[in-house]
Amino acid sequence: MGFKQKLQKRLQNDLTTEELNLLPRGFQTLDKIMILKLHPNLLEKKYIIAESCLKEISSIKSIYLNQGKIEGQFREPKSIQYLVGIKNPLVEHKEHGILYRFNIEKIMFSKGNLFERKYLASLVKKGETIVDMFAGIGYFSLPIGKYSEAKIIYSIELNILSYNFLVQNIEINNLKEKIIPIYGDCKEIVIKLRNQGIQADRVIMGVFPAPKEYIKEALSLCKETGTYIHYEGVIDKNNDLELYNEFSEIAENSGYNSRLENKRYIKSYGPGLFHIVYDIFVN
Ligand SMILES: C[S@@+](CC[C@H](N)C(=O)[O-])C[C@H]1O[C@@H](n2cnc3c(N)ncnc32)[C@H](O)[C@@H]1O
Repeated sequence: MGFKQKLQKRLQNDLTTEELNLLPRGFQTLDKIMILKLHPNLLEKKYIIAESCLKEISSIKSIYLNQGKIEGQFREPKSIQYLVGIKNPLVEHKEHGILYRFNIEKIMFSKGNLFERKYLASLVKKGETIVDMFAGIGYFSLPIGKYSEAKIIYSIELNILSYNFLVQNIEINNLKEKIIPIYGDCKEIVIKLRNQGIQADRVIMGVFPAPKEYIKEALSLCKETGTYIHYEGVIDKNNDLELYNEFSEIAENSGYNSRLENKRYIKSYGPGLFHIVYDIFVN
């Protein structure tokens, strides 16, 4: 029996038939917290539903409701609400053998990006220098540090709260030798790195909306022999090269050649819209 059917059984005396049909099929788990998304027609019954969820899965210690979007430059979750169980939004979530410590009320962690978090690390070759321009709590830097033979990873983050978790995550995953956390705006930090003679084999530009305003800085890190840039954004599936074309125009105008090596749809982002990642080779 699936999660929805089990909930329906538990709640058959508390919800109408219509409400029972609207119950969620699944949920996101972060550490011992269940993040629930509910149909608007179920919000009045959210506490009773949450109590049933808590009883249903013994490893779960608390239930939070996710009603909002992830917004703003810092990509903050806008509406995570505590419902029942132990009230503590600080998690140590384990994924692919890596611990991510963060506050679920303040910092995003998208389950749709699970594959990409591990996949990117598999592309990294021995001895690479990597610059993660929008590092967050280490979404990409930590798996690369753990699973690749990269030489060094510079992880830049502007939100002080995320930066502080990034520092802790580097420590609790024993990656201090490989990852250098840097607090600040990557627009300025990248130029400082470049002035110190640092060039990258790989640059990660993982933020929404597509960080067009930061392409020139990313290009400044490129090696003559070539650098991979992973460029993210949201596209209309009927025009899924739009953001790459913007990128390549800026690259060309700045004197670089760019070649699209691969593109991946990461997750759906609304009707007809997708979160995409382009792997671009620049020299
Ligand atoms: C949330 S991550 C996105 C991670 C990944 N794409 C994912 O979805 O799992 C983007 C991070 O970039 C940071 N950020 C935004 N603007 C920045 C800037 N100018 N310099 C450095 N970090 C920045 C945000 O604070 C945020 O932590």
